[in-house]
Amino acid sequence: MESIVVFDSGLGGVTALMEAIRAMPSENFIYYGDTLHVPYGPKDAERIRAYLDEMMAYVDAFNPKAVLLACNTATVTSAKYLRAKYAIPIIGMEPAVKPAIEHDRSHKRVLVLSTEGTSRSERLLTLVDRFDDEHIVDILPLPNLVDFAERLEFDTDEVRADLEAIFSSFDMDEYSAVVLGCTHFIWYRDLFKKILPEHVELLDGNAATVRQLQRKLGERIVTEGAGSLKIHLTGPRDPRVLNFLRETVPMEFDELMSTEYGK
Ligand code: DGL
Repeated sequence: MESIVVFDSGLGGVTALMEAIRAMPSENFIYYGDTLHVPYGPKDAERIRAYLDEMMAYVDAFNPKAVLLACNTATVTSAKYLRAKYAIPIIGMEPAVKPAIEHDRSHKRVLVLSTEGTSRSERLLTLVDRFDDEHIVDILPLPNLVDFAERLEFDTDEVRADLEAIFSSFDMDEYSAVVLGCTHFIWYRDLFKKILPEHVELLDGNAATVRQLQRKLGERIVTEGAGSLKIHLTGPRDPRVLNFLRETVPMEFDELMSTEYGK
């Protein structure tokens, strides 16, 4: 049996996994969350590539037909590296910069939120350069949101205070769109809606990325029967996280135990 691997440094990519399950409910998914090494945002590319090599070695046993890097930071640092090294299709995330610029012709500004690693990456800067003819795009790294998400803190006073402090130095009336350029941030869509002015559009790259995955797989997509999901988190087993996933992910799943933890 072949499988589709969905990868993230932790729980952010679950947002993309859910989109993929909805689009391909008969597929067999492996979710690999590198919770032992999250966050990737502040880490250098070489280390991230080594973690991704570990992931590729682990998922090999599941006969992968594609790997979805549901992680912008892994994509900008390592997609090229992985494609050169492994034969299977590697699909990366692309922050929704183009749709954000195009969605509104009022010439208001666009704010791209990402991890530190993504914000400094050549890949993001090149993407912005390509479409930002009028110089309306700003990039803002959010350093704390990934850790909050890993702790399942989605709408606490602390998270709100953190975001409000960051946005207080921006006049958000000048912006028409905010791009969620890190899959962890997608968990905060509702909170962003509450904090940001109503006219600000929130865009993420999940739907486009899953469409790209579907295009790559073409006729190899399983379209009949029940799908399956196995989840492997590399870090210590956390029952709160597993409960959260059982309540949130629209498919039942088996846990794949880590060799180091959780036995
Ligand atoms: N979810 C990831 C991203 O999309 C990475 C977050 C992190 O580990 O720093 O960038």
